[in-house]
Amino acid sequence: MKIEELKKELKKYLKNERYEHSICVMEMSGKLAEKYNVDKTKVMKAALMHDMAKETSFDELKKYIKDKNIYVSKMEMLLGVTLHGKVAADICMKKYNFDEEMCSAISNHTTGKPNMTMFEKIVFIADKIDETRKYNGVQELRELAFKDIDLAIVKNIDYTTENNLKKRRPILEQSIKTRNYILINNKN
Ligand SMILES: [Fe+2]
Ligand SMILES: [Fe+2]
Repeated sequence: MKIEELKKELKKYLKNERYEHSICVMEMSGKLAEKYNVDKTKVMKAALMHDMAKETSFDELKKYIKDKNIYVSKMEMLLGVTLHGKVAADICMKKYNFDEEMCSAISNHTTGKPNMTMFEKIVFIADKIDETRKYNGVQELRELAFKDIDLAIVKNIDYTTENNLKKRRPILEQSIKTRNYILINNKN
């Protein structure tokens, strides 16, 4: 399916604001794909659809995951924040024929995962630095993503972890695993 057709599909799932975010993540992914020599159209399609299940209720997400037998850890099921990615990946595979790499990038876009491909890294970071994002330091992170994508990912996880600590919210284990993997493997 072409990007224009996927956009029409996405509109059925999302309200304006999140649709806008999706378009901006797609555009940011396209720029990063050029910089890092990744299949631009493919990464843009995955980026466009990454949040397609974000407005689906927690109960519906849980039901979908149970019905389709999708593997999700107990903790993820309790916390809920990563479920929309798992469901979106499954829908994209079945309905739009997305391949494994695209589905993996969508499935892991919230926390990342250890040993990500450049394709997966692009979708992960584009989601955090797209033009609709307004948090302190986002401009620096945008620039950094084009110079050192791994460091940009680590800094983004630092930021969200610090925030979660301050607000005494649970920390997603998978984010820490993503961060540790990069820090341990990028020692020079
Ligand atoms: Fe998301
Ligand atoms: Fe997103």
